[in-house]
Amino acid sequence: DDEADLQPRAPIVTIMGHVDHGKTSLLDYIRSATVAKGEAGGITQHIGAYDVMTKSDKRVTFLDTPGHEAFTAMRARGAKVTDIAIIVVAADDSVMPQTREAINHAQAAGVPIVIALNKIDKPGANPDKVREELSVMNILVEEWGGKYQSQEVSAKTGAGIDDLLEKVLLEAEILELKANPDRKAVGTVIEASLDKGRGYVTTILVQTGTMEVGDIVLAGPHFGRVKAMTDHRGKKMKKAGPATPVQVLGLTGAPQAGDKIQVMDSEREARELATQRQQL
Ligand code: GTP
Ligand code: NA
Ligand code: MG
Repeated sequence: DDEADLQPRAPIVTIMGHVDHGKTSLLDYIRSATVAKGEAGGITQHIGAYDVMTKSDKRVTFLDTPGHEAFTAMRARGAKVTDIAIIVVAADDSVMPQTREAINHAQAAGVPIVIALNKIDKPGANPDKVREELSVMNILVEEWGGKYQSQEVSAKTGAGIDDLLEKVLLEAEILELKANPDRKAVGTVIEASLDKGRGYVTTILVQTGTMEVGDIVLAGPHFGRVKAMTDHRGKKMKKAGPATPVQVLGLTGAPQAGDKIQVMDSEREARELATQRQQL
């Protein structure tokens, strides 16, 4: 893309951390949703993708990742497509194995980290103990002379969450994120499933360009014409620009999470490439 074609885009922010440290609850508070309560066993088992408007009227796209140790691949995938990582650590607990793993994924992907010290409403919360444990890993917070922003929050009361979002937006400003909305869309598959009524439902993150209903797309070994698109609230969309998570209907199969999805010039070309890939 020419520099002249690039326009500012929303940041993609992935929430990572140890199991039950409050990632989904934090995002629920930000979205005024109640996803965490409905999860089987209280455990997140997929990547959720949501875009929200902040009080300062900025759009932010969030990816929620699982903290359970079994889901390393999803955390790695979440870190790969993101611009910024929020590492959530429960302040009544400690830096735990998946806290370390999440930090490692973010560092391997070269993305800035903001620390959310969650559950400060709890009587046993000791955020300074967590800051200390992080410093041992070379994650030294700004208040202690380091480079990492941290924020004490409660996903239960909402304390500190606006400040956390402002810190994330500050990181985003430094990155000067841009994309060209006026080209054929390219994105990443977040997850895909077969729905009885709707057929294959593919949640994608558009990264550059704009996807439109009617576009021919190729995703891994599958292709199709975009029949309909909905946002995470189920609202129909005609178009999805850069940094927008969207559910796409119309693919002929379920691609793998992490597959690239791209708009093609013709159905024939999309079918040929999909067929070739199926034969591999
Ligand atoms: P996984 O996705 O399974 O790794 O968990 P998670 O990090 O998304 O944590 P989740 O949001 O499921 O919260 C785990 C538990 O902690 C739930 O019972 C929440 O209600 C509780 N919880 C989360 N944040 C807070 C908080 O700030 N304060 C209090 N008191 N409880 C919280
Ligand atoms: Na949980
Ligand atoms: Mg969760």
